Amino acid sequence: MTLNELIDMLARQPRVAVLTGSGISAESGIPTFRGADGLWKQFRAEELATPEAFRRDPKLVWEWYRFRRQIIREAEPNAGHLALAEMEKRLPHFVLITQNVDGLHQRSGSRKVIELHGNIFIDRCVRCGKEVDRSLDPESNEEIPHCECGGLFRPGVVWFGETLPPDALDRAWNAAEQCEVFFSIGTSAVVYPAAGLPELAHRRGARVVEINPEATAVSVHADLIMRESAAKALPEIVAHLQSVKPS
Ligand code: OAD
Repeated sequence: MTLNELIDMLARQPRVAVLTGSGISAESGIPTFRGADGLWKQFRAEELATPEAFRRDPKLVWEWYRFRRQIIREAEPNAGHLALAEMEKRLPHFVLITQNVDGLHQRSGSRKVIELHGNIFIDRCVRCGKEVDRSLDPESNEEIPHCECGGLFRPGVVWFGETLPPDALDRAWNAAEQCEVFFSIGTSAVVYPAAGLPELAHRRGARVVEINPEATAVSVHADLIMRESAAKALPEIVAHLQSVKPS
């Protein structure tokens, strides 16, 4: 498929599903996980992003999440996030699925966002399950934050070895099954079940578009590959949608 064919298809307002990964936030200054400067090159996931790690050393885990929250607080959405928010306005059947926990899609105006891996600004009590949104709070100095019930708070993200929020996963699965165009943007597509979504969409007959400067597991299923950064490729696509009326 050529870019022009994609634009023609989008102008007919098909059902669109988008999967994003950390690469879309790279140009906002937020590190990815597996690239040259990726987080998993500097830190060991099993020491920081597993339930066992939290049981063993909640203070260390919280230090790491506070460090990441600070980077994200100082970051701004980039042209890629903004273009997806604009696409949502222009396309009536549009679902955005993200593996990112940074909330930048919502900050750039996207409304229908499915967060598969949770949100880094949520504190969730391990005892009573209470959730508190800390996105607008200054970072707490408490080394290990506690809930009123006395339980420990943990970050509201999905760790390795945990299941994804069932409702989010269901909605993502349905969107991938039913869409006619599927975008895979800024993800290496190696962490399941999210990584299964592009393949599912492909099997169900959707056109798969990959936006990523590097080849990934999705590339073999892609009908159109844009080997560009998300902040460059997405505004290019959206510029062509200007003739499509916002909903
Ligand atoms: P990865 O770090 O695995 O992949 C990032 C992808 O973004 C790579 O394929 C890069 O080539 C691409 N990329 C880099 N810069 C880009 C740019 N400017 N525009 C577009 N693409 C760019 O990150 P994820 O695929 O998001 O999960 O990782 C998936 C999951 O693994 C994360 O949600 C996290 C992690 O461990 C959990 O913590 C559960």
